[in-house]
Amino acid sequence: MKKEKLIIFDTTMRDGEQSPGASMTKDEKLRIARQLERMHVDVIEAGFPAASDGDFDAVKAVATVVKDSTVCGLARANEHDVRRCGEAIRGAKSPRLHTFIATSPIHMEKKLRMEPSQVIEQAVKAITWAREYTDNIEFSPEDAGRSDLDFLCRILERAITAGATTINVPDTVGYTLPEHFGALIHNLRERIPNSDKAVWSVHCHNDLGLAVANSLAAIMNGARQVECTVNGLGERAGNASLEEIVMAVRTRQDAFPCDTNIDTTQIVPASRLVSGITGFTVQPNKAIVGANAFAHEAGIHQDGVLKSRDTYEIMRAQDVGWKANKLVLGKHSGRNAFKARLVELGIELSSEEAMNAAFKRFKDLADKKHEIFDEDLQALITEESLDHEDSEHYRLISLTAHSETGEKPFAKLVLAEAGNEKTTEAHGSGPVDASFKAIDNIVKSGAELLLYSVNNITTGTDSQGEVTVRLAKDGRIVNGLGADTDIVVASAKAYINALNKLHSKLERLNPQV
Ligand code: KIV
Ligand code: ZN
Repeated sequence: MKKEKLIIFDTTMRDGEQSPGASMTKDEKLRIARQLERMHVDVIEAGFPAASDGDFDAVKAVATVVKDSTVCGLARANEHDVRRCGEAIRGAKSPRLHTFIATSPIHMEKKLRMEPSQVIEQAVKAITWAREYTDNIEFSPEDAGRSDLDFLCRILERAITAGATTINVPDTVGYTLPEHFGALIHNLRERIPNSDKAVWSVHCHNDLGLAVANSLAAIMNGARQVECTVNGLGERAGNASLEEIVMAVRTRQDAFPCDTNIDTTQIVPASRLVSGITGFTVQPNKAIVGANAFAHEAGIHQDGVLKSRDTYEIMRAQDVGWKANKLVLGKHSGRNAFKARLVELGIELSSEEAMNAAFKRFKDLADKKHEIFDEDLQALITEESLDHEDSEHYRLISLTAHSETGEKPFAKLVLAEAGNEKTTEAHGSGPVDASFKAIDNIVKSGAELLLYSVNNITTGTDSQGEVTVRLAKDGRIVNGLGADTDIVVASAKAYINALNKLHSKLERLNPQV
């Protein structure tokens, strides 16, 4: 029997971007969008165009480039947001406009300060404005998980009558339990007279670690779209993870009445790309995409897997895109081989100049590290795009770090501030600490260091280290990234990248605040 289709709606670039410090540039969004398209994601929510001019441009660029997936933008239910969103998605081959308004008593009273009847009117107006741009309209009653069932039935019936073609039920604060959430979807579909005129969708947050379980319960009760993010990125504890939903449905086809179109071999590359761009690393024991997800440590398990893989594995690592690190390029590879590999990875550089700069970086890296893997190329391109952000106020020119047993570690560096080179030095508890202190001597940012983490990009001691630095200042949180075969240099680059982001003061609105 042919299975029904489960629509995969990816919101990594919208809800995922709402994670503190995860904001993405236009180029980064384009790279992620291409990977999502390659993975056959049905709907890509590319951003919230009213958030900032930068996000408007990013959504517009994604809408122009993506051809095989629907491109969606988010808008609060007001005329300005809806029109801004409508303009941003206009160029898409298949556009969708997603508008939302809160429906729980606490949100209506305390956040919106609106009466329930006004909320209904506003939702209907927003859908009516949206129809001037597209017929593909999604409506979400925000905080549905804590909303009154009768009220939800009233507003959703009106939303469908007004023209919403997808009704998305968000558990905005991750409060619901699988059984209750499944029943909510069942009841809404049963009670709303025109419920069959819309696709039912769910959007679950992970505050209680139940986002995936709640989404799966909803699918069992008739939801045919799931909103999710790569690596489960998203506000607070994140959203339902795309890879977990897709693989649960694919692996348990005996239990689910539907399946997705996802090319699962693109899952691990997508996970790596998103963690590389955002600096949100993936925990080793994360299902599907964690480094240990297919590693067997216990001898008894190893023995079993060698005899027959399915004794301990319910999925095949290669089906989700794990492969042995593949040597792709080396120091003798030429420009054409480099360019061809970037094309295979779906990376398009904006100009010949950007290609020349990336090729130079590649050659410098190949001098230090003989074997260059796909992951190295991804990191190199991320670095290249960081350097080309308009916001580059500080730039690392050179760094010397010294550590010796029994001696106090020391760093000396030359940093360009708005083009003027300055030399500074400092001692610290280690070479990284000394470098950060030296940078602070010049920048004096007063920012608080929230996170410092180092990961190998590939394996081996000659691997590049990828460093994430998270800084907070005046209520803003930014992530800085840096990669190098020398982790002290990678750390300094990541710190400077974060300082540049703080300096750029680019502000974006969060749709839900
Ligand atoms: O969590 C939420 O309610 C949302 C909506 C905008 C769908 O992100
Ligand atoms: Zn959300």
